[in-house]
Amino acid sequence: MGGGQVPASAAEHTWEVQRLRIAPVGALSGRVRVAGAKNSALKLMAAAVMARGTTVLHNVPRISDVDCMADLLRSMGLGVTWVGNSTLQIVRPETIVPEAPYELVERMRASIVVLGPLLAVEGRARVALPGGDDFGPRPIDMHLRALEDLGGTFVSAHGYVEGTTPGLVGTRILLEFPSVGATENAMMAGVLAKGTTTIENAAREPEIADIAAFLNAMGARILGAGTSTVTIEGVSELHPAEHTVIPDRIEAATWLAAVGVAGGDIEIEGARADHMDMVLVKLAEMGVEVTATEGQLPGLVVHAPERLRAVDSVATLPYPGVATDYKPLLVAMLATADGVSIVTENLFAGRFRYIDELVRMGADIRTEGHHAVVRGRDRLSGAPVRAPDIRAGAALVVAALRADGETVVAGADHIARGYDDFVGKLVALGADVSVVD
Ligand code: EPU
Repeated sequence: MGGGQVPASAAEHTWEVQRLRIAPVGALSGRVRVAGAKNSALKLMAAAVMARGTTVLHNVPRISDVDCMADLLRSMGLGVTWVGNSTLQIVRPETIVPEAPYELVERMRASIVVLGPLLAVEGRARVALPGGDDFGPRPIDMHLRALEDLGGTFVSAHGYVEGTTPGLVGTRILLEFPSVGATENAMMAGVLAKGTTTIENAAREPEIADIAAFLNAMGARILGAGTSTVTIEGVSELHPAEHTVIPDRIEAATWLAAVGVAGGDIEIEGARADHMDMVLVKLAEMGVEVTATEGQLPGLVVHAPERLRAVDSVATLPYPGVATDYKPLLVAMLATADGVSIVTENLFAGRFRYIDELVRMGADIRTEGHHAVVRGRDRLSGAPVRAPDIRAGAALVVAALRADGETVVAGADHIARGYDDFVGKLVALGADVSVVD
């Protein structure tokens, strides 16, 4: 138990759950509050490795991927404790073990993001090579090339990559593709490199800007994060800082998709419309009306009609395009919309695998390479299905909101990797979702 009163072990959370049961209830209504962004929180935790002392992160989601990153930091010798419902305290001692073991990297491939921070602060790092996953192959060549540009040397043996450096030196890094992970590794390493580093063709996701804000609070000097060119003036040392994680735009889109499929009126507290521009454009085309609210806790007020309209085409692209993480949710919406849509995946070759599960629920979807033709059906048909990954799992639950009869989604532990209180929030919106014992 961290902090005495707050549960810290996975056993006390829903990620022990294997199956969810969903029955349709019609339109949704109510209010949910979005948790902190998984894909920012995990990297902020990794960045904490770079400053001796106590880091405090607020608005950290209670999800199993965060537990996994906490386990990774603990295995290196850091102390990680929940000191509030969503506040994490990370204590970095003088000496740590700069290594990410296979058991943890296998559980969560985002562990690779410790490579840059460790190399920068310790001068060496040993990290298990992440394999492929349900999206297909996911190489780390761009991460390594960027760190080599900064003066790292890598050898791979026995399933591990080992990096060393006599001291990183700032340089110009030109990424072949705006990879989120490679941008993060390069940016975190660059803050402790000697001189100026520029990262060109950098990823522009809001999470990159959040990580840069945190690093700057730690004493780094980063400009341009969130744009294609990030400029970093190296500093010799970072100090610990306190930071609040930005809201999770993918979680927000999940509740948008839920109300889109089921119809109704909901409010999503904490969601930031300015992080979701393009997906909101697509949702408007489908007939979802979203109003951004201001005030103490900004959010979105959402109205969805009884049935959505199809859209001609949706293609995933790096930010500010439609994120690949939204795609399963969009496909679930289009599977019940009126008309035919074409969905194109441009980031992960294998990210269509859940479609077979939607087809088992009666969806009319045909895939051809990285395209899917989705012919909307008014209602789907409840069936037993399996969640292949976080977002696809959430999308199957969303689709089940408009499926006659009961749907049971197995592999729900995937959903718990990325969603804080998934079932509780759907229930708060009036959905009939429960855990199968
Ligand atoms: N790529 C390479 N070589 C590299 C790095 C990436 O070929 O060295 C390729 C990948 O195979 C992929 C493309 O580049 O085809 C984009 O990958 P990117 O590096 O941008 O993705 P990532 O950093 O591995 C993060 C998120 C994903 C999200 C993608 C794209 C985290 C922990 N993960 O992954 O989120 O889909 O960016 O936006 O930040 C999720 O949250 O469930 C999730 C999978």
